[in-house]
Amino acid sequence: MITQEVSNAIGLDVGTSRVVLARRNQEEFDYHTQLNAFVRIPFSKITEGVLRKENIPFTVQGSDLIVHGNESERFADLLGQEMRRPMRAGVLNPAEPESEQQMSLIFRNLLGEGAGAGRKVYFSVPSAPKGSDENTTYHEASVKGILTRMGYEVRPIHEGLAVVYAEMEGSNYTGIGISCGGGLCNVCLSYLSVPVLTFSVAKAGDFIDSSAATAVGEIATRVRIAKENDFHFNGHFADKVKQVISVYYEDMINSLVAGLNESLGNAKTLPKLGRPIPLVLAGGSAMPRGFRERFEKTLKASDFPIAVSEVRLAANPLYSTAKGALVAALSDS
Ligand SMILES: Nc1ncnc2c1ncn2[C@@H]1O[C@H](COP(=O)(O)OP(=O)(O)OP(=O)(O)O)[C@@H](O)[C@H]1O
Ligand SMILES: [Mg+2]
Repeated sequence: MITQEVSNAIGLDVGTSRVVLARRNQEEFDYHTQLNAFVRIPFSKITEGVLRKENIPFTVQGSDLIVHGNESERFADLLGQEMRRPMRAGVLNPAEPESEQQMSLIFRNLLGEGAGAGRKVYFSVPSAPKGSDENTTYHEASVKGILTRMGYEVRPIHEGLAVVYAEMEGSNYTGIGISCGGGLCNVCLSYLSVPVLTFSVAKAGDFIDSSAATAVGEIATRVRIAKENDFHFNGHFADKVKQVISVYYEDMINSLVAGLNESLGNAKTLPKLGRPIPLVLAGGSAMPRGFRERFEKTLKASDFPIAVSEVRLAANPLYSTAKGALVAALSDS
């Protein structure tokens, strides 16, 4: 928990997988993150005492302890359970009755109790995935409600646009920002800081985990840990799990490139850009070694109609969205 005030403006990446808080500390940006997950474990006085001593966020509910955030993954793995997730596919999880309550606890842990007091928070919102009839209105209103009740002045920012604000000052915020997250890949084409087109693709990290888990008869949490620890492209995979992960990663990249071509290739409203524009990849799913190269190769092979000057990996893929939300909040304070 943050006890010392560093800046009034706040960027909050409300992600399916992680919630990331960004604040400015003099010239530096400061980040704090919690997994957007929880797990129930049996209550005992001794466990309660140890969690408190270790500063692990938890609440007591009847005969259970609920562990929130980062430590929930380890407990889930140790107990062979799946973590419970307040969000799914970029929005509040309709199958999780405790979603709002749990998100609110994670927000309080990151932001601190009673810290709102009219401060400005820009929080990330996704686009509804292509081809789905979902919309993000309820999700956006719910997150806004939680933060407003905590006393913040709240504004949404599209996740892809946040990536542009975080990474593309050099091109005056012209380019394509992509966040490859847990639930979705969110894309924004921005022209001089104005979002011209935004969309998302439903295949991202969770899709890889759950599809690979089904294929090898594992639980998704374990696949995810293997993927995050040492998966990379262009390897020879003696290990079956990594081999299956690589198949679904390819599938995700193909869907993302198909989505880019479909949305940007046909858009009648595209501005005449005049010169090639940069494309930046961010989000946790862009992190494995070789991902950028594999994406670029697939994009080039697809006859993408917009001239791209470079395909770049964000400086810190896990923090890009929160940083961009903070850039927007700072410019508005
Ligand atoms: N080092 C890594 N290698 C591979 N994948 C990783 C790595 N670190 C994180 N991930 C994956 O990235 C995903 C989470 O990324 P991120 O935190 O950007 O998502 P999110 O913002 O929470 O989700 P979304 O934007 O879809 O709502 C998860 O699927 C996670 O397993
Ligand atoms: Mg995200």
